[in-house]
Amino acid sequence: MRIFVLFFAISWADAQSKYPETISVLQTVYSGEMQVHLSYLGFAQKANSENYPNIAHLFLALANSELIHARNFRKFLSDLGTDVKEISKPETKILSTKENLKSTTKEPISQYKEIERMK
Ligand SMILES: [Fe+2]
Repeated sequence: MRIFVLFFAISWADAQSKYPETISVLQTVYSGEMQVHLSYLGFAQKANSENYPNIAHLFLALANSELIHARNFRKFLSDLGTDVKEISKPETKILSTKENLKSTTKEPISQYKEIERMK
């Protein structure tokens, strides 16, 4: 058992020293996914409070999908023996549902326009 534990301690230390850039990128991506997850949860609560239950369901579904992405990145970090910095509050301001919808669709629409422009 001690040899097994020692092996993992060495492997984790190796991963930290061999892949610092990968770990940094994974932490950044994990934080981003968690930020989006928490924002969507806030948007869902706001939509519910403004009596838009269908929009609330949409935001909740999006929040859950972002949480899956975040968990996948957390697993990669965990597999590399890295502690993950937990995030509990979104940086995004929760505005009206109309404004929240505008802010969440802004980037996909601009990406779509960029794709159309490249055709
Ligand atoms: Fe995502």
